[in-house]
Amino acid sequence: MFNRSKKEIAVLPAHESCTVAVIGLGYVGLPLAVEFGKKQVCLRTNKKLNRRVIGFDINKQRLADLSSGLDKTNETTKDQLEEASLLEFTSKKSTLKAADVYIVTVPTPIDSSKKPNLEPLMEASKTVGEAIKLKVNNKTDVIPVIIYESTVFPGATEEICVPIIEKESGLKINEGFVCGYSPERINPGDKDHRVTSILKVTSGSNQEALDWIDELYGSIIKAGTYRASNIKVAEAAKVIENTQRDLNIALVNELAMIFRILGIDTNDVIETAATKWNFIPFKPGLVGGHCISVDPYYLTYKSEQVGYHPQIVLAGRRINDGMSSWIVEQLVLEMATRKMIIGGAKVLVLGLAFKENCPDLRNTRVVNMITSLIKYGMTPTIVDPWVDSKEAYKSYGLDVYATPKKIQYQAIIIAVAHNQFCSINSNEWKELLDSNGILLDLKGIAPRDINVMRI
Ligand SMILES: NC(=O)c1ccc[n+]([C@@H]2O[C@H](COP(=O)([O-])OP(=O)(O)OC[C@H]3O[C@@H](n4cnc5c(N)ncnc54)[C@H](O)[C@@H]3O)[C@@H](O)[C@H]2O)c1
Repeated sequence: MFNRSKKEIAVLPAHESCTVAVIGLGYVGLPLAVEFGKKQVCLRTNKKLNRRVIGFDINKQRLADLSSGLDKTNETTKDQLEEASLLEFTSKKSTLKAADVYIVTVPTPIDSSKKPNLEPLMEASKTVGEAIKLKVNNKTDVIPVIIYESTVFPGATEEICVPIIEKESGLKINEGFVCGYSPERINPGDKDHRVTSILKVTSGSNQEALDWIDELYGSIIKAGTYRASNIKVAEAAKVIENTQRDLNIALVNELAMIFRILGIDTNDVIETAATKWNFIPFKPGLVGGHCISVDPYYLTYKSEQVGYHPQIVLAGRRINDGMSSWIVEQLVLEMATRKMIIGGAKVLVLGLAFKENCPDLRNTRVVNMITSLIKYGMTPTIVDPWVDSKEAYKSYGLDVYATPKKIQYQAIIIAVAHNQFCSINSNEWKELLDSNGILLDLKGIAPRDINVMRI
């Protein structure tokens, strides 16, 4: 299959000594590049691995930070970066021609109309296509392997990325290069589920590619691998993992709306129902970030392209997207019931990141809540010890503080369950609150002995 000419027989790269390029060094790409960049032995064969690893990114500031040992995403420590002695960082495209394996981990966001924005993925595919063209000009007989890890809709790798690589390189898939898709499942801020401790799904453009890609990940992933039957299956599996989670949260969010009218505490209901062996205790709340609140739109986009208009998936998205304003409405209703003055009320918002113990601000729905508070004439103060205040200002025009000012607020909203907020005790909460003030606990973390409003 890989014969290029009668004389020259091309082969896939040597596992132990190949050069791996990781394209896009964010939450996903960096931990992976660091793992490949450690001196280690293959987990499957026990053979010594001596790979060169090229970490490529277009963001020069990110590369400068990483070179000085700073990972602003907090996924990798200075020591871990130092341990990855085989890893080098670059923004020079020409360096990429030295690679045998290209792993693409660039963002796959949505645009303002919630359609997939594939520009970074297409740009990265162009970069890889150009690099492998230079390799071929160097007359190497090694077949390059290109693996996508970015979350996409089923079909994106073969229908969008592969044609770009073919056009740029002048090579044909499964002749001049092979391809695969291996989704990432890490969870930012989660120190238990790391890249090597999560089972890795692999897929390939043909059987040889699948075997090779599976061996590559198998050499470093302690949790092992799972061979998907083809690339589209692997792409679809990733996108439904997050779609299922989004819908499960949408269900409990809808239940929270019903129970609020009925005067029942949703978290108490969930805890009670969870005593049954097959009840899954999802919690109500905001759904932000670049995965759960984005990936379902990749699926629905593809679905609509092929003539099926999804109902349940989009209904879940609508409920979850509407939670921020619903929560603020509940607060306003409670304030009105307590005859509090809404205009000018000082509200302390605890947490801006899209999830706990992580600095990631992408698509955080707390921002929508803040916008609603401001529309009602309230004055929010935002505290988040995890986020970079400059980035928060740049992204959302919001001032963020690391600790609350010692004044009394008419309302406090616990929006994110950062460790620092979980450890606040009843007296400390009382000191921050006006005598008639409301502590709205969206995460169910505040002690129940003080009068807490929950959803
Ligand atoms: N963050 C997560 O928890 C997570 C989990 C699973 C899957 N994913 C998926 O993985 C992909 C990457 O997500 P992320 O969170 O790591 O993104 P990120 O924004 O943290 O990092 C992406 C990096 O790619 C770089 N980049 C952008 N365009 C590039 C290009 N053309 N060439 C080289 N570098 C480029 C950016 O500068 C950035 O450093 C996305 O598809 C995402 O949906 C993310």
